[in-house]
Order: sequence, then structure tokens, then C-alpha cells
Amino acid sequence: MPFPEQFLEELEAKNPIDEVVGGYVNLNRRGGRLWGLCPFHNEKTASFSVVPEEGFYYCFGCHKGGGVINFTMEVEGLDYPDAVRFLARRAGLTVPEDEKTASGYRYRQRLWELCRDAARFYHETLKSPEGQSGLQYLLKRGMKPDTIVKFGLGFAPNRWDGLMRAMEEKGYTRKELQDAGLVRTKKRQVQKEDGSITETESCYDWFRNRVMFPIIDVRGSVIGFGGRVMDGSEPKYLNSPESQIFNKRKNLFALNVAKKTKMDMLVLTEGYMDAITMHEYGFDCAVASLGTALTDQQAAMLAKYTKQMVLCYDGDEAGQNAAQRAIGILEKTGVSVKVLKIQGAKDPDEFLHKYGADRFKRLLGMSEDQAVYRLGTIQKKYDVTTDDGRVGFLREAAAFIATMESPVEREVYGGRVAEIAGVRADAVNTEVQQVLRQSRYRKKKQQEKKDLRPAASAQPEVSGIKYENIRSARAEESLLAQIFLEPGLLDKCEGLSPEEMSSPELRKVFSWAMDRWHQGLPVSVAAMRGDFTPEEQSLLIGITQKNQSLTVNEQALTDCIGLIKSEASKRNSKDLMAAVNRRRDHTGYKGGGAL
Ligand code: CTP
Ligand code: MN
Repeated sequence: MPFPEQFLEELEAKNPIDEVVGGYVNLNRRGGRLWGLCPFHNEKTASFSVVPEEGFYYCFGCHKGGGVINFTMEVEGLDYPDAVRFLARRAGLTVPEDEKTASGYRYRQRLWELCRDAARFYHETLKSPEGQSGLQYLLKRGMKPDTIVKFGLGFAPNRWDGLMRAMEEKGYTRKELQDAGLVRTKKRQVQKEDGSITETESCYDWFRNRVMFPIIDVRGSVIGFGGRVMDGSEPKYLNSPESQIFNKRKNLFALNVAKKTKMDMLVLTEGYMDAITMHEYGFDCAVASLGTALTDQQAAMLAKYTKQMVLCYDGDEAGQNAAQRAIGILEKTGVSVKVLKIQGAKDPDEFLHKYGADRFKRLLGMSEDQAVYRLGTIQKKYDVTTDDGRVGFLREAAAFIATMESPVEREVYGGRVAEIAGVRADAVNTEVQQVLRQSRYRKKKQQEKKDLRPAASAQPEVSGIKYENIRSARAEESLLAQIFLEPGLLDKCEGLSPEEMSSPELRKVFSWAMDRWHQGLPVSVAAMRGDFTPEEQSLLIGITQKNQSLTVNEQALTDCIGLIKSEASKRNSKDLMAAVNRRRDHTGYKGGGAL
């Protein structure tokens, strides 16, 4: 454990969860809890709750839960040690770091400083005679000098060691330069005159003769760079390699600026230049991904800052396909998604230079919501000038409209579909109603099936966790719920070994609780902290919340243990049989037998 228990207890005492959460969410007391709108998903009625006495939060809607450190990790997008440091600063405490973590953090800090100094160097070079080609390139593309300063753009000199020398002069080591991804090492074998071969190492700058775009994280640290060639050579963009401080799946270009926008949306573009040009034209809500498809982590970050995302990808097929995929990823976070179609230009950068801000603004105002966009995609599949095509389009469009929750929406979009297909609105409505009837019937049947097999609905609602053996997992859940209500019961669990539990997550919680009990440490959900992932914490809090009215009694506990053990021994004998069968196959034995 990186931080001492005693310190964490003090940290939590000085950062009461209701106070910390209250800084982000408006909380009202109702019953034994404080309630508010969940900061992690979009909702209109409060299902997010805080239990200050027990030091945790839980959302009954999205099933996220944890202590104050976990909350800070989720809401500020920090990893565990950084969340601890964040709360320590908030409460004016000094973090007693063990040497390893402290030095890890100090090293990352050093790499951040190095990247900032490198950005300054590239920027200065751009303004110097050596950087004239880069500067002229940017100006020729229509960029204003102010924008160049605002985004700290720069130029990497056309030399093998331009940056390396400048940074070594400032006291940075070769290793630091390598670890920040700014310098590369190549091993070369050289044959000497006598025929023997020796290996030499050569170091050189990763970025040379390129226009440089610093990549800055939400907290304002320079973490990497993108470098663009000025002619048609390949690769067009070269990015920093992944490093201890640079992860392109977890960061977005320009989010450090766009997070402060007064506009009620964020616009996601594909390219650095697209985002920068949008900012230059007054749309300070633009961000860009870092040369990869949008990831879940990026979507989660965006959802922290806005309820409305606009996708503004390139107009070509690849861009539109990427937009289609991004819709799904963003919708999972609960934000609304609109797609903006660029016409008459290949990307937002070109569009703005060609047509100006007003037309772009109109485009933004008109940006289609995803329903219109989906209908457009469906329409493209059919030729609605033919009868066959109209019928196909109507069927598919009606199926899509039937998925809409609100009758008003169904009416509005039904009207559009009728217009496109050239039929009366009630014809569309009849079709939609029929789909709805069918899907209600299917749902009812499914529910009936589910009721017969209650186990199927007992899967946890936390993403990424699935029970292999529902019967055993339910007993494990019930056992843990009782233990967390009354840790003294752990004395009665000595006969149960963690390996006998079927769910790896619950097994981990059980053996953790057992260890703490033996060491005389408190066993509570709030104490789970950094030993568990946010998902594992959510799972466990969900379990205790589901079983709040549980009455603890030893018989129930004994029953749970009995069931877990019997499921475990079934599993073992299955494994044994599988092993026996494998051996048989191995020996070529094919005949039947007692086993
Ligand atoms: N990209 C990359 N590596 C490449 C090409 C592109 O990492 N070889 C990433 C960059 O982040 C770039 C984005 O993909 O910003 C979009 O690429 P593209 O559409 O080709 O370039 P533009 O952004 O239009 O750049 P420009 O206008 O400078 O040509
Ligand atoms: Mn472009």
C-alpha cells in the first residue's frame, strides 16, 4: 500500500465526503442520506446519494459508488495517488509518500518540466531564422500570429541534435529525454578494420524539420507533441510515442482550453489544425483526438464538461464512418450527440477558411441531431423513388422510430419519414405502432422467461464484471453484505477459503476483509480505497445497498458458506474430470468407463 493507513484516515477525516461532493453537486438531506443529481450520468431526478456517516457515495442510477478518494478520482479524472495528493492539498496536509511512489511522481514532474521546456525551445526556434520555413508554412495556411502564441506552436530544427543539445544544456539527462519520447537511441553494429564487430549507440532527436503542436493535458501540463511535415512527405504527422506521461487514448488536444468555453457544447474534430482553426474563428469549444478513434476514456472526459457533443469529422467516407462509431461511444456516457456535416470542404479547417465563421455558425445551429442523421443514413440505403425502395425505407425507419421513448419525438420524426417516402403520416404511424406491439410482445415473453430463470437477472450492473456461477455468486454477495454489516462475523468464516469463492472480484474482497480483520484494522466499504478498482468498489457498495434490510444471523451465514463450498467442490470435480479426460485423449484411450 503506497500510503499509510493512518494518514488516509486523517485525510478522509479532513475531507468529509459531503463537503467534497458538495463542491460539485447540490445535495439535499432526505432520510438518512444526502441526495443530488449524479455527476457521472445525465439525469433529471436525483438518484445519487451520499452517506456522510459511513463515508461513501452511491448512485442508484448508474451504480457508481465509493469513498471520497474514489469520488475525486472519478470527478477530477485522476489516478489514485494523484487523487490522494489532490485531497491532501485541499485539506492542507503533507503526503507521507514512500520513496518509490514519491520518486515516481517526482520523475513524472521532471518529464512534464522537460516537455514544457522543449515546447518553449520549439516555439523560440519558430521565431528564429532557423524556423522561418515553419513560420511561413503556418502563415500561408492562414494562421494568425496570436493563434501561434496561444497554442504554443513551434518548429523542430532540421538537425539531429537541436533539441537534445539545448535540453542537455538546461541540465536534463539523456535518459529523461528518452523517457519523454523526445530522443531516440539506435544501436548500430560497426565492423572495425580488423574485422571485429562492435556495437555503438547513437542518439538523435525524434522530431526534425517539423511544425510542432504541443499536446497539453486538462491540468495544463505539456505531455507530448504532434509534428507536421511542411511538404507532402510521409508520415504527415509524427506524434510522441506513449510514455509515462503521454497516453493518447486518455487525452484530447485543446481540451485544456475548451473546458472553459461558455458555449453549451463541445465540438470534437479529427485534426489538430481543425481544432485550432475553430478556436481562431471564435469557436473555443473545439477539441481533437490524437490520431486514434475516440476511446471510452476520452468520451468519459468529455462528458464531464458538457451535456452536448457535436461531432465534426471529415466529410469523406472514412470520417463519416468514424463519426458513426463515435456516436455509440459517446451515447453510453449519457451526453446528447449531434453530427455536423461539412459540405463544400474536406474538413472544418478548410471550411472556415473558405466560407468564414458565420456560415460555420449556421452549420452548427443546424447540426443535425442524431435522429435526423440516422434517418439520413437509412435513406441512403434505399432508392425511395421506387416502390420497393420506399417500402424498405419505411420498414427500417419505422423500426428506428419505434425505439424513441417520447411520443412527441415519434410524431415529429414520423412526419419526416412520411415526407421522405411520400406517404401519409398515419401510414408511418401504423407501421410504427405495429413494430411497437411486436417489441412489447417480445419484451413480455423475455420477461416471462427471465421470471422463470431469476438467475439471469442477478448479473452485477457494474460494467466489466460478470459472474460465472450465479448461484454461488449470490451466496458470496450475501455473505459479504453480512460481513460488512457486522465484521465480527469474520470469525465464523475461518472455515471458508477465498479460493472457494467463484467470483474473482468477491474473492478479492473477502480475502482483503479477512486480512484486515486478522490485523485488527477496520473493515468497511470506505476503507477499500486504493486496493480496489473503482468498478470493484462500485460492485461492493451496490451489494451492501441492495442488502440494507438484511438481518444478520449466524444461520444465514452458515447457509451461505455451505452453498459456496458445495458449488466449489462441484467445480473441482468437474476440473478433475476434465483433467482425466485430457489424459485419456492423450493416451489414445477412447472407450467408455465408469467416469
Ligand atoms: N494523424 C496522425 N498521423 C498521420 C496522419 C494524421 O497522427 N500520419 C492524426 C493527426 O492527429 C491529425 C489527424 O490525424 O491531426 C487528422 O489527420 P488528417 O485529416 O490527415 O490531417 P489534417 O488534420 O487535415 O491536417 P492538415 O490540415 O494539416 O493536413
Ligand atoms: Mn486539414
